[in-house]
Amino acid sequence: MRVKLAAGNWKMNGLTADLAEVDALIAMHPEPRSEVLICPPATLIAPMAARAAGGPVAVGAQACHPEAAGAHTGDLSAAMLADAGARYVIAGHSERRADHCECDEDIRAQARAVLQAGLRVIVCVGETETERDASNTLDIISGQLAGSVPDLVTGESLVIAYEPVWAIGTGRTPTTDQIGEVHDFIRARLVARFGDGVGRSVRLLYGGSVKPGNAAEIFAVSNVDGALVGGASLKASDFGAIIAALDAA
Ligand code: PGA
Repeated sequence: MRVKLAAGNWKMNGLTADLAEVDALIAMHPEPRSEVLICPPATLIAPMAARAAGGPVAVGAQACHPEAAGAHTGDLSAAMLADAGARYVIAGHSERRADHCECDEDIRAQARAVLQAGLRVIVCVGETETERDASNTLDIISGQLAGSVPDLVTGESLVIAYEPVWAIGTGRTPTTDQIGEVHDFIRARLVARFGDGVGRSVRLLYGGSVKPGNAAEIFAVSNVDGALVGGASLKASDFGAIIAALDAA
């Protein structure tokens, strides 16, 4: 049985005052059935982890440098993120692929560093609208999985997030059939590469305009084990409703 995961990605949003949202979320869901994760900006990892310690909300990071330490001005290593209280790191979000020119090879190196630091990694994959229109979605996903996911993973340490680029922050979502097709495909690729044990244990999240109003139908899709939520994770009322839908799925 895969433990469902509701992961929030705050992106470049959040100041100290916003930590109150975590208190509100915990008050709404003191004992969720699903695992709950928030990845705030790096500046809030330590205070959020301190505030959430011992409770149902884990804290994660949005990216890391592939090396453990060294002359890399402005970067953070996985060990530093772990030291600050992070338990997960997102690797290869499409905004990092686009804004920071991160390619599959960079993301694989980051993911490897995350795992070496003893953390869990959420590797993101997803097609652009042009790629979907050209019927290239599954080829793109296959290439990103092969290129971005390192070899040494366990069913618990790896999470894959399918996030169609055109659905992120746009209010548009694929149909449930389209989500199911990609999630079933990802599951089959993981089983082919890592075998049944690992391949069937990896959690697959859907991401891209998940909201309280569409969460339940998305969580009913085969091989959807949770969500990676951007905008709707910033407010406890919205994210709490998404967690409730996942708990009920
Ligand atoms: P969104 O972002 O929920 O705001 O569309 C999702 C993501 O980028 O992870």
